[in-house]
Amino acid sequence: MASLRGRSLVSVDELTGAEIMGLLKLAGDMAKAIGFGDSKGARAPMAPLDAILAAMFYEPSTRTRLSFESAMLRLGGQATGFAQSTSSSAAKGESLADSVRIVSGYADLIVIRHPLEGAGRVAVRASKVPVINGGDGAHLHPTQTLTDLFLLQRRKGRIAGLKVGLLGDLRHGRTVHSLAPALARLGAEVVCIAPPQLGMPRPVLKRVAEATGALPPEVTAVDEVVGSLDALYVTRVQKERFEEPGGHQDVVGAYRVDRALLAKAPPEMLVMHPLPRVDEIDPAVDDDPRAVYFEQADGGVPVRMALIAAMLGLHDLPRVTVEERPLNALTPVADVTDHCDNDRCVTVHEPGVPPEFVTFAGETVCAYCERPLREGG
Ligand code: NCD
Repeated sequence: MASLRGRSLVSVDELTGAEIMGLLKLAGDMAKAIGFGDSKGARAPMAPLDAILAAMFYEPSTRTRLSFESAMLRLGGQATGFAQSTSSSAAKGESLADSVRIVSGYADLIVIRHPLEGAGRVAVRASKVPVINGGDGAHLHPTQTLTDLFLLQRRKGRIAGLKVGLLGDLRHGRTVHSLAPALARLGAEVVCIAPPQLGMPRPVLKRVAEATGALPPEVTAVDEVVGSLDALYVTRVQKERFEEPGGHQDVVGAYRVDRALLAKAPPEMLVMHPLPRVDEIDPAVDDDPRAVYFEQADGGVPVRMALIAAMLGLHDLPRVTVEERPLNALTPVADVTDHCDNDRCVTVHEPGVPPEFVTFAGETVCAYCERPLREGG
């Protein structure tokens, strides 16, 4: 039986395809147990669980933090933590590693969200207990990917063979950086749809290619491809992650999902979004049966229940047979004395974290933020 007991989760790439699908199956059982997003009101209490989840959130969050806390409470455990860096000792200048080390003495599991890329990896190293990356800057968001895959599996009954269009700010959006390689690995086809300046970063494209044998198609206009998709995954412009303040102004309104677009889409195509939505999906679309983003968000609770239960060793993962197209391991690069030149990388800001590089698809990338060396911010 596969087990995640005692393991951390920084990137979906750390999970095998069978582990991902096992987690989704367990999440399905959890969904049944809690009535999935359709609270029936009070019910008999779960057996109390002697475990505490600490949520360390240094960046805004609604869904990720509350669904993690709700998941832990639903499992019968307890949740503690902070929702903004100003209410933690970060405001007094404490390092991330020191804060994590301390909190890991107070909890059995940590979920952390942080604006610096690679922060999850620093947290894992500092912690005495398993850590879940709840989003690290523009880098990764593995539990959102599990939530996205759960929706696809639930609605379509499979992931392999689906054609999924990823639309929006693919450059800065961490959800798609985690989702694209996972989809590719599980046999789905990925199409990247973005304004030219918001295209998918090269390392992510290469990782998709590693699984599928070819770089995914990149298009700029959603109209061109919407007629052929099984799911359209929409993301907002990540205005807080542009290098220049206000730099997002040029792309605001560059894409929008509305009724006119959906008139060109297949009748069974799902419209997904990790949320929050800003103006990239017209609220008039919410009534369309293809709009599943709120159901997608509801799935965050059973998915995170499954993950927490597996990591705490409460459940083994159900055995699932999966045809997987595995990703290559990243190989450490010795003797690189250079620093990472991504100014949002955790190694640039956190004291005592020496730079580390790995080779990936023939390129040297930072082991923390996965940006190619000498690419710049
Ligand atoms: C996403 C995130 O934080 O990256 N939100 C979420 O967790 N559901 C998407 C976003 O902020 O655009």
